[in-house]
This record gives sequence, structure tokens and C-alpha cells, in this order.
Amino acid sequence: MRILVLNGPNLNLLGVREPSIYGEKSFEALEQLIRKTAGELGAEVELFQSNHEGALVDKIQQALHTADGILINPAAYTHTSVAILDALKAVQLPTVEVHLSDISQREKFRQFSYVSLYAQKVIYGKGFQGYVEGLEWLCATVKRKDQHAD
Ligand code: DQA
Repeated sequence: MRILVLNGPNLNLLGVREPSIYGEKSFEALEQLIRKTAGELGAEVELFQSNHEGALVDKIQQALHTADGILINPAAYTHTSVAILDALKAVQLPTVEVHLSDISQREKFRQFSYVSLYAQKVIYGKGFQGYVEGLEWLCATVKRKDQHAD
């Protein structure tokens, strides 16, 4: 099972960036946790972070041939990007959307997500744990899908 994990703009600055909202732990610590969790779940994981919308779109398109599921924190593009939504709709892979903070309780402009119009599961407000739960959900969903395909 191959999972693509995408992190959008400014998430590379975790630990430095608004720690009262996003926590004090670094992006490297998040990547380590993702690799460890994927290993425990028996999944191969590809990690990709970009500050550029088009780079994220390219990566989603490539997933058509290289991944069984996508975990994405689109960061600020969550609230603006029809292009990322369209790419996810194009590849039709099981997708979970994760946010560190509770976007439902923040500024009004963060309360709408384009990506949620496609994602089958959305997890927010759980910090790094949201990625763990997202990976667990994704692995279980991909496995179920494979069983039905047999
Ligand atoms: C975020 C929430 C977004 O609104 C914000 O732009 C981010 C991070 C989160 O993980 O809580 O960059 O996706």
C-alpha cells in the first residue's frame, strides 16, 4: 500500500510559525511521526511539502500511477484552491484532509474548504495526532477497497 502525504505552504515552518496555534514541534518531527506510523501500518509513504500550488497539483496528478491513497494538509490553499480540488477529483483516490488547528473555530475565511468537497474524511484540531488518525483511516479504507476489488 502506497500513501502520498502532501503538506502545503508554510507547514515547513512548524515549530517557528505561530506556535500558539500550530504547536512547538518541528516539521521534521511531524515527518518522522508520519514515517513511523506508516511503517507500523505496513504502508509505504511518500512525503512532499511545497509552498507552490502548481507543484501540489503536479504531485496529485502523479499519484494516479504511484499511490493508493492521499493524505493532504493543503494549508492556506484549503480555502482558495479550485485547482487542488479538481486534481483530487481527477485522480479519484481515497483522500483524507488533515488540519493541525481547529479551522471550524478560527477566522471565517478558514471555515470553508474546497478540498472538503472531495475528501472522504476531514480531521482538524488534533495537532500531529490528526495525521496518525488520517493514516489509520486511509490504510483501513484502501484495504477495504482492495477486498471489494478481488
Ligand atoms: C492549517 C489551517 C489553515 O487555515 C492554514 O492556512 C494553515 C494550516 C492547519 O493545519 O491548521 O497553513 O491547514
